[in-house]
Parts: sequence; C-alpha cells; structure tokens
Amino acid sequence: TAGHDVIDIRALGKHGYFTFDPGFLSTASCESTITFINGSQGILQHRGYAIDDLAKNASYLEVCYLLLYGELPNKAQYAEFSRIVSEHTMLNEQLTRCLQGFRRDAHPMAIMCGMVGTMSAFYHDSLDIANERHREIAAYRLISKMPTIAAMCFKYNVGQPFMYPRNDLSYAENFLHMMFATPCAEYTPNPVVAKAMDRIFTLHADHEQNASTSTVRLAGSSGANPFACIAAGIASLWGPAHGGANEACLKMLEEIGSVERIPEFIDRAKDKDDPFRLMGFGHRVYKNHDPRATVMRETCHEVLDSLNIKDPLLDVAMELERIALEDSYFVEKKLYPNVDFYSGIILKAVGIPTNMFTVIFALSRTVGWIAHWNEMMSDEGQKIGRPRQLYVGEIDKSFNGIEDR
Ligand code: ACO
Repeated sequence: TAGHDVIDIRALGKHGYFTFDPGFLSTASCESTITFINGSQGILQHRGYAIDDLAKNASYLEVCYLLLYGELPNKAQYAEFSRIVSEHTMLNEQLTRCLQGFRRDAHPMAIMCGMVGTMSAFYHDSLDIANERHREIAAYRLISKMPTIAAMCFKYNVGQPFMYPRNDLSYAENFLHMMFATPCAEYTPNPVVAKAMDRIFTLHADHEQNASTSTVRLAGSSGANPFACIAAGIASLWGPAHGGANEACLKMLEEIGSVERIPEFIDRAKDKDDPFRLMGFGHRVYKNHDPRATVMRETCHEVLDSLNIKDPLLDVAMELERIALEDSYFVEKKLYPNVDFYSGIILKAVGIPTNMFTVIFALSRTVGWIAHWNEMMSDEGQKIGRPRQLYVGEIDKSFNGIEDR
C-alpha cells in the first residue's frame, strides 16, 4: 500500500456510497504482483527486482519472461522462450495487405492501432480467453509481431520494401535490421546501439496502472479479446500526456533550439495563462525522481559517445534539466525529468524518426499490457470494470415535443 490508507469500498458501493476521484489519483483498481512503485522514493521494481538492475544486467526478453511468468528464466527457459518468440515474428501476407490499405503518410500510431486490432480478425485460434494456453499464444504473438509491425509502419511511410525478420538476431538487433536494412544493403547494428535499444524496451516494459494499462484492463474486463484490448492500450498511449511525450519532448527541444532560449521556455512553463508545459518533466506517481530517467540519461551519453554525435539538442536538454532542477517552481511541485526526457535523443541519434517514438514505446509496453491482462483474466473473482460518476446535470425536466421547443 506504499504508505497510503486503503479503504475497501466494495461493501460501501452496495449501500450507495462511492469515492469521487477524478483522474484516479488515489483509487487502486486492482491487486497486482507485477510491478511495485514507490513514487515518493523513486523506486520501480518488477516482480521484486529493481529496474536499474534489470535494465543494466538483463535482456528485454528476460524481463518479458519475468513479467509474464513471475520469475527470471534460467538458461534453458530463456533459450526456449527466445526460440518461441522468434518463431512468431512473421506477419501473414494477408495482414501485410491490410497495412498497405493505409495512406502512406498515416501516423504510424494510427497504423499500429489498426493493425493490432486487426490481428483479432485473423488469429481465431488464440481467442478462447478462458483457456490459459490460448492466452499464452496470444502473448507470444503480440510480443513477437510488434517489432515487425512497427518496422513495417516505418518502411511504408518512407516507401521502402518491408524487410523480413531475422531470427538469428536478438530482439533489439532484429528490430533495427527490419528498420534499417534494405534488400540491397545489410544493416549491421552497432552493439552499443543494440544494447541501448534493448534498454529502452526494458525501461518501458511495464509501469503498473498507467492510463494505457488501465485501458487494457478495463477493455479486457468485459471479456474482449487480447488483440482488441492491446489496440485500446495503444490508442490510450498515443496522447502527449502519456506515450506521446517523447515525441513532444524532442519537438520542444528543437523549438527551444539553443541554450540561450531556455529561460524563455522555463518562464512559459511557469505561466498559468500559457498552456505550455515542459515535456518530459513531471510524473503522476514519481515525486522524487524517475528511476528510469537515470538509466536513460547514462545510456544517452553512451550512445552519443559511441556514435561520436555532438548533438546540440543534448546540450539544450542538459542545461534545461540543470536550470529546472534549481528553479523553485519545479522543486516545489516536485517536477523531475521522466523517462521520456532522454529517450527521444537516443532514438534520434539512432536514426529513428520522431513519429516512430511512441510506436517504440507501444512495442516495449506490449509485454506489460499483456501481463496485466493475463493476471486479470486468471483472477476468478474478476469483475467488469465499471467506474461510477458524479452527475452534475439537470434532472426531472418536463419533455416538450419538437414543435414546441
Ligand atoms: N511543466 C510545467 N508545469 C507542470 C508540468 C510540466 N511538465 N507538469 C506538471 N506541472 C504543474 C501543473 O501545472 C500543476 O500546477 P498547479 O498545481 O499550479 O496547477 C502541477 O504541476 C501538478 O500538475 P498535474 O497536471 O496536476 O499533475 P499530474 O500528476 O496530473 O500530471 C503529467 C502528470 C501529466 C505527467 C504532467 O506532469 C505533464 O503534463 N508532464 C508533461 C508531459 C510528460 O512528460 N508526460 C510523460 C509522463 S511519463 C510517461 O507517460 C512514460
């Protein structure tokens, strides 16, 4: 309960009482054993393991296994899990043709929502959600095919042929291959870049009941199929206050442009008449620091050093962070850089276009969504999610026919 008092409202609800909690600031919607966050101390743990241990020492697929099965895999379990994930990476040609029905300039997140929802029209053999094995196959399909679909969105946008997945590569290397190889040019991923990509996936893998995960759970609580639920999660992630923040953050750094202009933007962020906010700053839960941002910052430097990139945006980011962390407005409101503050700079350095940033977040978070969905489906006492509302409109009005209005 992380220091909060928990009131069980199940009994109260029957007698007509309920809590009014806009934005669910203090309402727990479920019990979970997947992810622990202590926002005031900046702690994030998956199944009891600290995020920085996982991000630095485990691969993304080990973390996927951990989230899905509750414990880190041994060597044999890892080899088998990796084999199964790599076997499901191909996309059926019929689904490829669906993708080609989108406008070429469609936002890749729009294509992702559509394609993942479309998977439920295709994989009928994993839709019996009461069957644990079907749920497991659906999880494999989603984790395996998300990089393929994501890379296809990019290739489609830029007008290049799709690249087939290569199962001899790691999860991150394969994604980079599908993004950047062409039929006439191999892509050999720089190991530092591949490691950074894997870390980005891990750092975004799960974050308990954020907006998109809650959306997946709410959609799933009605018995909807996993592909439809994950499509709902992708839609929720898209917004700039959530997964869209990394794209918005990079655009903001570009708009600031130089270190000299930072004070102007800091002032704007503090001005209550200006809707501008410092993107990549603040978090609903972390009121100390975002532990993912610390690892992301280190990784950002590793990538830029390894690629020998001198990015002026990094100078702007570092100075913005320094000034904001000394500014009483940000200190008092406990606004610290979040995970999205540095991820955009890394992705830009790797050559990934801005409109793909949230797609990469969606790809990474799929395992968290599916682990939560599966946890909920395994709970026999699970109920349909049905928040109440506080009605503040008019009541008991007399009805007039249309000719009398
Ligand atoms: N810049 C300037 N002021 C801010 C910022 C910011 N980035 N974030 C919050 N504030 C201010 C608000 O104006 C508000 O001030 P007030 O109390 O004087 O009205 C106060 O801090 C609290 O803000 P809320 O919006 O109430 O906090 P909430 O917990 O609801 O929002 C959120 C968290 C949405 C992340 C917010 O900090 C924000 O919009 N940040 C920028 C977007 C962003 O980076 N999102 C990524 C989140 S991480 C993720 O999804 C992986």
